[in-house]
Amino acid sequence: MVAPEHPFQTLTGMRDLVEPDTGRRRALVATFAERAERAGYGEIRPPLLEELGVFLRMGEATDVVSKEMYEFEDKDGRRVALRPELTAGVVRAFVQHHPPTPWKVWYSGTSFRRERPAAGRYRAFDQVGVEVLGVDDPDLDVEVVALAWGSVTDLGLRRVRLVVNSLGDHEDRQRYTDAVATFLRSRRADLSEAARATTERNPLRVLDTKRPEDRAVVADAPSISDYLSPESAAHLERVLAGLRAVGVPVEQDDRLVRGLDYYRRTTFELVADSLDAAQNAVGGGGRYDGLAEDLGGPPTDGIGFALGVDRLLLACDAEGVFPPADVVLDAFVVDTAGGETARDLVHELREAGLAADRRYGGGSLKSQMKSADRSGARWALLVGSDELDAGVVTVRDLRSGAEQVAVPRADVVADLRRRSSEHREDTGT
Ligand code: HAM
Repeated sequence: MVAPEHPFQTLTGMRDLVEPDTGRRRALVATFAERAERAGYGEIRPPLLEELGVFLRMGEATDVVSKEMYEFEDKDGRRVALRPELTAGVVRAFVQHHPPTPWKVWYSGTSFRRERPAAGRYRAFDQVGVEVLGVDDPDLDVEVVALAWGSVTDLGLRRVRLVVNSLGDHEDRQRYTDAVATFLRSRRADLSEAARATTERNPLRVLDTKRPEDRAVVADAPSISDYLSPESAAHLERVLAGLRAVGVPVEQDDRLVRGLDYYRRTTFELVADSLDAAQNAVGGGGRYDGLAEDLGGPPTDGIGFALGVDRLLLACDAEGVFPPADVVLDAFVVDTAGGETARDLVHELREAGLAADRRYGGGSLKSQMKSADRSGARWALLVGSDELDAGVVTVRDLRSGAEQVAVPRADVVADLRRRSSEHREDTGT
């Protein structure tokens, strides 16, 4: 093997996540999981790699499918892809295993999209989300949207808005898409080059434009509300009324179209006003009636959402909420008497459920104490030759400046356990 010319680096748009960020992500997933499980959702972990066809059903006209997927041929000559999201895989799992309905699942995990990287836009990113299969009831939409809203407010975020729309059923959506295409073609001269191209590929996506010249045109576009069947309009009304009844603040926006093609009827997005407008969607979802059929299963209603973990945490930073938890060591063992006590005591402390660390390679009392201070440990456990001879360990409180005490070596683990639980009670941690 020849050494590379340069040291290897992560691929563009990919990151190594480390503490404290990783700990914060674990806490976010735990908070989300708790809320989802309280509402009757069980965890699912679909694979990262699926047959390409599973994802093509998301709509070949969408950028996610046509431009951004990591797809390749595996060694068996099968076309496969890294998942760009989890909904398609979850629906594939439903079709494959036909669990009893309603099937309510939550998930967390990484997805891959070969997008142009920016702040809040990565090529590998994490989502948490839910899907429910087998229920056609607008009150379920209320449950799902309220779950998304609650998950965001659990983090302490306040500057987030919930925007809801309906794209109608299959026929409504088709009629509306045709109307939007006709309208956009009539205003072709005023549209940007990019919007003209999108008009031919996926006209509804133009409604989502961020370009000022296109926005001016889009402002005059037909509204979906004029194209909803009475059933779709009643569904939307019931969802909006339900959200208001349970106290979820909701904005209706008839211009909301989502990036993926599988949506029908209820669609929604959570928008963080603290983030840059280009990447301010911290989550989104909706109904996708028809997806199970597209994947070879029986007609099945479905709804779900995904929240972008990376963007949620950026929004938390912007609002100064959901800080990373401090990893607090109970004890740091400082041993200047040969190292055997440090070797054995950290092990005993950890086995007793305490958080303990030490320094390797010996070193003077001063340098080991520096490491103890830097570790943030609550107590230093000191063992020098005097302690060793006397069969004790000196316990020094590194925070309060209280008098240090000598504790018999045999009692020190129990002593530390008592101190640590008293301290936890005092601080409510
Ligand atoms: P999505 O809108 O494509 O929907 O993604 C959901 C969220 O994932 C976005 O709002 C955003 O916060 C985050 N996200 C998407 N792409 C990136 C990226 N490149 N970098 C960082 N964050 C990103 C879905 O994925 C659907 N599967 C949601 C759903 C579930 N619909 C029904 N069920």
